[in-house]
Amino acid sequence: SKDPLVIFTPSGKRGRFARGTPILTAARQLGVDLDSVCGGRGICSKCQVTPSYGEFSKHGVTVADDALSEWNAVEERYQQKRGLKPGRRLGCQATVQGDVVIDVPPESQVHRQVVRKAASARAITMDPATRLYFVEVQEPDMHEPTGDLERLERALGEQWEIGEITADLSVLGKLQPTLRKGKWQVTVALYHDHTGGPARLIDIWPGLHEGGIYGLAIDLGSTTIAGHLCNLDTGEVLASSGLMNPQIRFGEDLMSRVSYAMMNPGGDAEMTRTVREALNALAQELADEASIDATLICEITLVCNPVMHHLALGIDPVELGQAPFALATSDSLSLPARELDMTAINPRARTYVLPCIAGHVGADAAAVALSEEPDKSEDLVLVCDVGTNAEILLGNKTRVLACSSPTGPAFEGAQISSGQRAAPGAIERIEIDPATKEPRFRVIGVELWSDEDGFDAAVAETGITGICGSGIIEAVAEMRMAGLLDPSGLIGSAAQTGTPRCVADGRTHSYVIHDGTAEGGPLISVTQGDIRAIQLAKSALYAGARLLMDEMGVDRVDRVVLAGAFGAHISPKHAMVLGMIPDVPLDRVTSAGNAAGTGARIALHNVAARAAIEKTVREITKVETAIEPKFQEHFVAANAIPHATDPFPELSA
Ligand code: FES
Repeated sequence: SKDPLVIFTPSGKRGRFARGTPILTAARQLGVDLDSVCGGRGICSKCQVTPSYGEFSKHGVTVADDALSEWNAVEERYQQKRGLKPGRRLGCQATVQGDVVIDVPPESQVHRQVVRKAASARAITMDPATRLYFVEVQEPDMHEPTGDLERLERALGEQWEIGEITADLSVLGKLQPTLRKGKWQVTVALYHDHTGGPARLIDIWPGLHEGGIYGLAIDLGSTTIAGHLCNLDTGEVLASSGLMNPQIRFGEDLMSRVSYAMMNPGGDAEMTRTVREALNALAQELADEASIDATLICEITLVCNPVMHHLALGIDPVELGQAPFALATSDSLSLPARELDMTAINPRARTYVLPCIAGHVGADAAAVALSEEPDKSEDLVLVCDVGTNAEILLGNKTRVLACSSPTGPAFEGAQISSGQRAAPGAIERIEIDPATKEPRFRVIGVELWSDEDGFDAAVAETGITGICGSGIIEAVAEMRMAGLLDPSGLIGSAAQTGTPRCVADGRTHSYVIHDGTAEGGPLISVTQGDIRAIQLAKSALYAGARLLMDEMGVDRVDRVVLAGAFGAHISPKHAMVLGMIPDVPLDRVTSAGNAAGTGARIALHNVAARAAIEKTVREITKVETAIEPKFQEHFVAANAIPHATDPFPELSA
C-alpha cells in the first residue's frame, strides 16, 4: 500500500513518507518552516507541532488517533523536565505511522512573522544574521590531530550545513574550556550576513544555551537617540527607550555641530566620544530594563543622518558642511561593534550601518524607505519623517525621490519654551474650545483628558512637565482654529481673543495651557517664540515636499505618511491645519510612528532586507535642498498658517 500522507498546516504542503519518518525530517523535505536549534536531539523544544485527528474534508483525508508514534523516551523525559502544552508533540521525536495533518504553530516557525507596532504595517519576516546553533563536537583523539575549532567547524558542517567559520582570538580563548565543560555539546552564535564569506563565531556556551541572543536597532537622531532591544530569535521587542543626544551641547542642529568640528581642534573626536558613551548607556539601560545580561547583545543596526553617521563612526564631518557635501562613504557598513567603542555589549557583536542616500540624505532616510516601501507603492506617496532634519521621500513603483530638509529641533519639543521629549508627564494632545478658548489636554502615561474625573489623581505621580513634539503641533493648530492666532502666526492679546489665557509677554503674547505654579509646578504656555520655531520647522518640511513634487512634475500626491522621530503620533488633521504637508483627503494621511527605527529593526531581523535596501538606495534620485533656489521660495511662501500660496481644498471641506 501507499506510504502515509502528511499534510502540514497552515502552509498546506503535503507529501507521502515512509512509516517511521520523523515529522521534522518530513517538514525539511517539503520545505515546511519548522524550527530546530538542537538538530533533533529533543532538548530545544523549538520543533513543537500540534497533530490533528479526525476528518479533514478540506484536505480529503481521515486521520486516526495512532497516525503518529507513541511518545518515546526522549519525549517523556522532555515532558517530565519541562512539560509540553496539551496536544503538542516534539516534531523531531514523533514519527509518521498513518495519514496525518500536522499544524505548525507560529512560535515553531523559523521565519516567523513579527507584528510591527503601527497598525497599517506589514509584518517583519525573521531571517537574522546572527543565529544560535546547538552542536555536538567530536572529542579529539591521538589519531586525529585536528584542532578544536576545526572539529567544531566540521560538526557545524555536518549538522547544520554551515561552511567555513572564522573566530577571533577573544572567542578562541573560550573554545577549549567551553567544549569540555559542555561535554562536547555546545551552543554557538554565528553571524552570517548577506555579503557572503565565512560565518563569524560570535560566542559559545556549554550545552544548550537558553538565555537567548539579542540585538539593538538604533535610530541615532540629532536630538534624540531611540533604541529597541529585540530578541534575535523571536523578533520580540523587549524594551524600547530613548535619550537626548548629549551632543546637543555642541550645537542644536547638524550644521552647528559641523561648525563646532571646524572651529575647535579635536571637536569632532569630542563629539564622537560623547555619542558613543550615550550609545553604550542606552544599550545598558535597555538590557537592565529587559533584565538581560548586556553581553548577550550580539548585533546592532544603526541608522542616522549623514552628520551623525560620520560622528558616530569617528569621521570628521567637515566635508558635509559645504557643497558638494561629499560623504566618506555612502555604502552600508558591517563592522565589529567594538570599533565604535561599544563596550557594554558582547565584545564580538557586529554592527550594520544602513547605506546613506546622499550627503544630505542619510541612512535614516534609507531606513524610512525600508519601512514604508514607497518603491513598491502603486499610488504616489509622500513620506515625511519628522525630526530635527526631515527625511522626505516621494514616489511610487516607477520612481522615488528623496531629500532632507533642516526643520530644526522644534518638532521634537526642543527650542520650545515648555518643550520636552515624549516621556511621561509631557502633554501630547490638546484641544481648544473655539467658543470658550479653554484647553483640555492629555498627558503621556495617563489615559484621561485633563477635564475628566480622576485626572488630577492619575497625573499626580508624573506631574505635568511640559509639551512634547506632537503636543506642540496640536497646540499651534488648535490655537489657529480657535482664533487665537492670525494667519501670519501672531498670538492675539486677551482683549483681541477674549480669553485671559492670552497674557502679555514682553511685546508679544503667550497662551497659557496649564498653570501649575500654585503647587510649585511649571507654567506651561505657548509663546510667540514657540510659534515662530514651529513656523520655521513646518515651512522647511513643506518646502522640501514641494521641491520633490516640482521635480516629479506633480502638484498633488495620492497619500501622505507621517513618521515621527520618536514614535510621536502626529495628528494628520493638525499637521494639515498647520500646513506641514500638502493637501490630501484626511483619510489618506497615516502615521507610521518611528519609521526609521522600524527600518533599523527590519534590517536587524532580516538579512535579505539589507541587500534590498542597498539596491533601492542606489536607485533613489537625490534632490539637494540646500543649493536649490526654489526651496527658498517655497519656504518663504509656506510661512503662514496654513500658508499663502497653495490651495487647501481638503482643509476647507
Ligand atoms: Fe530540538 Fe526537537 S529539534 S527538541
